[in-house]
Amino acid sequence: MSAQRGEFGSRFGFIMAAAGSAVGLGNIWGFPTQAASNGGAAFVLVYLVLAFLLAYPVLMAELTLGRHAHGNMIAALAKVSRNGTQRGIGTLVGIVGIFTASLILSFYAIVSGWMLGFGAAYPLAAMGASDTSTWLTTFGESRNLLLMLIFMALTMVVVAGGVEKGIERWSKRLMPAMIVTLVLLSGYVLTLDGASKGLAVYLIPDVSKILSTELVFNAMGAAFFSLSLGVGTMLIYGSYISDEEHLPTLGAQVALVDVGIAVLAGFLILPAMYVAAERGVMIFNDAGGLLSEDTLIFTVLPALFESMNESGTFLALAFFGLMSIAALTSSISMLEVPVSFLVERFNWGRTQAAFVATLIITLMSAAIVLNFDDLFGLVITVSTRFSQPLLGFALCIYAGWVWRRDSLLTELAQNEASGELTLFMKWWPLYARFVCPAIIALILLRSL
Ligand code: TRP
Repeated sequence: MSAQRGEFGSRFGFIMAAAGSAVGLGNIWGFPTQAASNGGAAFVLVYLVLAFLLAYPVLMAELTLGRHAHGNMIAALAKVSRNGTQRGIGTLVGIVGIFTASLILSFYAIVSGWMLGFGAAYPLAAMGASDTSTWLTTFGESRNLLLMLIFMALTMVVVAGGVEKGIERWSKRLMPAMIVTLVLLSGYVLTLDGASKGLAVYLIPDVSKILSTELVFNAMGAAFFSLSLGVGTMLIYGSYISDEEHLPTLGAQVALVDVGIAVLAGFLILPAMYVAAERGVMIFNDAGGLLSEDTLIFTVLPALFESMNESGTFLALAFFGLMSIAALTSSISMLEVPVSFLVERFNWGRTQAAFVATLIITLMSAAIVLNFDDLFGLVITVSTRFSQPLLGFALCIYAGWVWRRDSLLTELAQNEASGELTLFMKWWPLYARFVCPAIIALILLRSL
């Protein structure tokens, strides 16, 4: 079986690919700005706790189900089912997962296209092509369409290359480059005037907020999105892990890299905002909160770069390059969800599957671009606020209740040298059974 299926060639390759999926716009852009508007270090603290107490166990459910089945989410849920009803519901859950992954990619590609556009705009302006540069950085339908198309094409090329020669190879190249850039950029920004104010906002917790329900629920959503959970992304990556590997360790390493990079990005974004303020850029909204989301990335930071002349061009290139890379290693993991399904279910060739899936998602994305005000926010809310937690809930039910405990333990114990039940094996199945679904049900009820 594994002769035909792709498999990650090395442990390092898997970690780079899975961490590449996890680390994306959510970490470098979403996490720091959410921290800023939710009580600084109070949010960071709650996020850390939730990442390990909720997101990591759900990640393990996906990785274990995937490796056990060596197949996509539909196949995996069918494999652990014990009767026709369970299989039927599993198929439905798998289909919703594939659809949600495609939906997430259809908005993610638009935002990622902007990153490419801003990345290209600065060198173009420096070379005198200021009209093109302005076009690339001004909101407009044709710009949004073109950049989205370019980004989708890049994603397709990598995925069509296969698991080892496409996804793994590019993740191994891009992730280290991204991490080095992030460290250098934050190191530089921390030396500029005003940076320490941003650092204080980030590191001094506003303890009055730590138990606010809003903060807790925001942190939970951020952790879920950040680890790419629910839609079968991590499940399919798990299915490409060799049977020799020890899953709980691999999962922990991926979660650590993801959380580590989110925290590191905070050392870049928040200080950068206060450096911008020092140079006269507006960083607060009318309500007195910090500007966030799109205004932050596409208004505040560009204003900061412009105030720096030549070094600004260089920094902008590094920053938007970093964002583009982070986005690409995430988008390939989203596209892999429908592609692996088409390959496994209909025996299609990888290139054909990648082309067809890309075509469909590009059309969905174009529909969003052409109806931006109506669809953009709606698609984000439906896919990330509702669909993702709902699917995560279903995955915990399948791992915790449907899957026979002895078979689950055999899968986990496969590479335990001692052959004994470790602490993880004793507790995690119970945890996935009771605690995870309960927490997720709470988030869902709240967001309704
Ligand atoms: N985790 C990525 C980020 O932080 C985005 C991502 C990749 C994702 N694959 C996913 C989100 C699957 C949800 C589902 O940007």
